[in-house]
Amino acid sequence: MPLDVIIGAQWGDEGKGRITDLLAAEADIVARYSGGDNAGHTVTVGEQIFKLHLIPSGIVHPHTTCLLGSGMVVNPAILLGEIDDLASMGVNVSPNRLKLSSAAHVLTPAHIALDGAEETRRKGEMLGTTRRGIGPAYKDKAARSGLRLGAMREPEEFAIQMEEHIRAVGEVLERIYNLESPDPVEVAGTYCEYAKRLRPYLTDVGGFVDQALREGKTVLAEGAQGTLLDLDHGTYPFVTSSYPTTPGALIGLGVGPKHLRRIIGVTKAFQTRVGSGPFPTEVFEETADKLRGTGENPWDEYGTTTGRPRRVGWLDGILLRYAVRVNGFTELALTKLDILTGLDPLKLCLSYRRNEDTYHDLPDGPADLSPFTPEYGELPGWRSDLWEIHHRDDLPHEAQSYIRRVEELAELKVSLISVGPEREQVIHWNITA
Ligand code: IMP
Repeated sequence: MPLDVIIGAQWGDEGKGRITDLLAAEADIVARYSGGDNAGHTVTVGEQIFKLHLIPSGIVHPHTTCLLGSGMVVNPAILLGEIDDLASMGVNVSPNRLKLSSAAHVLTPAHIALDGAEETRRKGEMLGTTRRGIGPAYKDKAARSGLRLGAMREPEEFAIQMEEHIRAVGEVLERIYNLESPDPVEVAGTYCEYAKRLRPYLTDVGGFVDQALREGKTVLAEGAQGTLLDLDHGTYPFVTSSYPTTPGALIGLGVGPKHLRRIIGVTKAFQTRVGSGPFPTEVFEETADKLRGTGENPWDEYGTTTGRPRRVGWLDGILLRYAVRVNGFTELALTKLDILTGLDPLKLCLSYRRNEDTYHDLPDGPADLSPFTPEYGELPGWRSDLWEIHHRDDLPHEAQSYIRRVEELAELKVSLISVGPEREQVIHWNITA
């Protein structure tokens, strides 16, 4: 009856999708639990590459049931687009395979308009949101004025509520931001049609997961975003509006902690961030170009959702250990080790300095990192290509030393390493469960 969780240890984009892909092969259920279509997972269906934003990437394994949990905010237009695209590729996305929590919240065009308006008003202090309406949708949820997916069971009534919602937010858009509101009647009509299509998918996801766990099935919770974007535990205010961490998985699925087995923290062998906010180990120029890539390859560091070039830097041991603590990781998956090939020396942030003091842990969380200067340790790099390596002992000694140093810094074992974009380019480092 295990619940395994996959969590981003950094600012998102750690390569969680491919670790999910690996573990989904053994899972009965794969579930998203927080966030919305601000996330982006690239999945391969046969010869076709598809970018998913809402549906768990486990959907490409035909034996799985996939869930969208109550912690999510769902844009029905995006969801239906994904359902249609997957169906056209021959993937079964019928309601007996894909289930939506009736407690998840509906994301609307008014939320999207508001997200853009709020960002523009922040001017020089933009958060760099994905402009997908995420913050405003969660704001409505917290204010207890949001619309839940469950309301779609009665499409006509839902349309009335939607019309009221658009009118209410429209007033804010017009009065405060001097922007045109989406047309309430038109949106209500469209959402009424969405409701008719989506209501067969509505489920009590918490109850469904509980029943599955009682029957001894394996449930895999697929994280979106990352620990440092967590609303409470991230680099506030440069965070998302949900809880991508382990506690968020429990709330966002509606299950208690007793079922937890593996909590896998996924970290890149370096570090990236999209959007604004602190990034102590950020690098620029040549090293950045090498880590980021040109954008020609699908694995280069450009956002799946926004296409924005990601900021890049060295792996930060302080922040990694913090993520281990916040999430209670049982193991780490280290992705994109191959990208470090050719960089010599390699740097790892071992401590922070503020004035005369050295810190090995964050004195007061990650919200204000500006007073700290990273202190690095250097390790020798390697030149040989890692793509064809399938066994840990065949990794260059320098790469092995690098992984061991990461383990020391995180105070946790690495179980998996990825050395290339393909499914089989994953190496078992320490064998766990
Ligand atoms: P929002 O989630 O669109 O409100 O954006 C808030 C912050 O989280 C911004 O810095 C985004 O770039 C970042 N963010 C949101 N989703 C992701 C993701 O899936 N990967 C990486 N960054 C993300």
